[in-house]
Amino acid sequence: MGYPGGKNHFEVDREAAEVAMQAAPAARAMVLENRAFLGRAVRYLAEAGITQYLDIGTGLPGAGNTGEVARAIQPDAKVAYVDYDPIVAVHSRALLSGDESRTTVVLADVREPKSILEHPQVRELLDFDQPVAVLMVALLHFVAHEEDAAGILETFRDALAPGSALVISHGTDGGQPEVSAAARKGWDNAKSRLVVRDHKEIAALFGDFELVEPGVVQLPLWRPVGEVRADWETIWLDGGVGFKR
Ligand SMILES: C[S@@+](CC[C@H](N)C(=O)[O-])C[C@H]1O[C@@H](n2cnc3c(N)ncnc32)[C@H](O)[C@@H]1O
Repeated sequence: MGYPGGKNHFEVDREAAEVAMQAAPAARAMVLENRAFLGRAVRYLAEAGITQYLDIGTGLPGAGNTGEVARAIQPDAKVAYVDYDPIVAVHSRALLSGDESRTTVVLADVREPKSILEHPQVRELLDFDQPVAVLMVALLHFVAHEEDAAGILETFRDALAPGSALVISHGTDGGQPEVSAAARKGWDNAKSRLVVRDHKEIAALFGDFELVEPGVVQLPLWRPVGEVRADWETIWLDGGVGFKR
């Protein structure tokens, strides 16, 4: 999965992105805002002392990836990157090679939580008796409504020690279901379709985790650095960070 302006992207991403950008002009801004949210969330967690990260649905770990952001604050931070796309996994391994003591790349599917939580490489790198931050950033809108996102999240939350954290960002329809459906058409032929959930459904994915201020909000409003963009309402992604207490 690539980003507008980034160097790491594939044909299928470009095609889906073009359809999205034609239907919803803010699609490009949404991708960039999502990436900025990931950076702010990881920085927040690193400043809170988290040194272990499980980044699921990584995409290509380009500039500003989880490891880079976390290690600016926690130099020894460990990051397990997980994606179900073999091409992403191959490229990620190449991009991250030479850093095996702090980084691992695993090919697995979030819809099978145990295949991640019990994966030998994940277990070797991360200590689940200590706090781990699980990132599902722009991932869960690829989990269909009938695939039990709530059950998947419960399994992850249960596997974590107190002090662990969960970071989620997720697409909404922005209150404009028709425009949203047209924008998502580009993913109809992709490996997974893109579905939206509403604010309440997204907040529920955190279960009993304690949300940090300002809770689950549209991404530009989540602990902004500097001025919030005037058109923040056009960013149809909600997100937040929660802690297991
Ligand atoms: C939109 S990209 C998000 C990349 C990154 N997390 C970010 O926010 O910048 C979504 C990524 O999730 C991966 N993905 C989608 N469904 C998945 C699944 N069921 N299990 C694991 N990875 C998945 C895709 O291959 C893609 O790399």
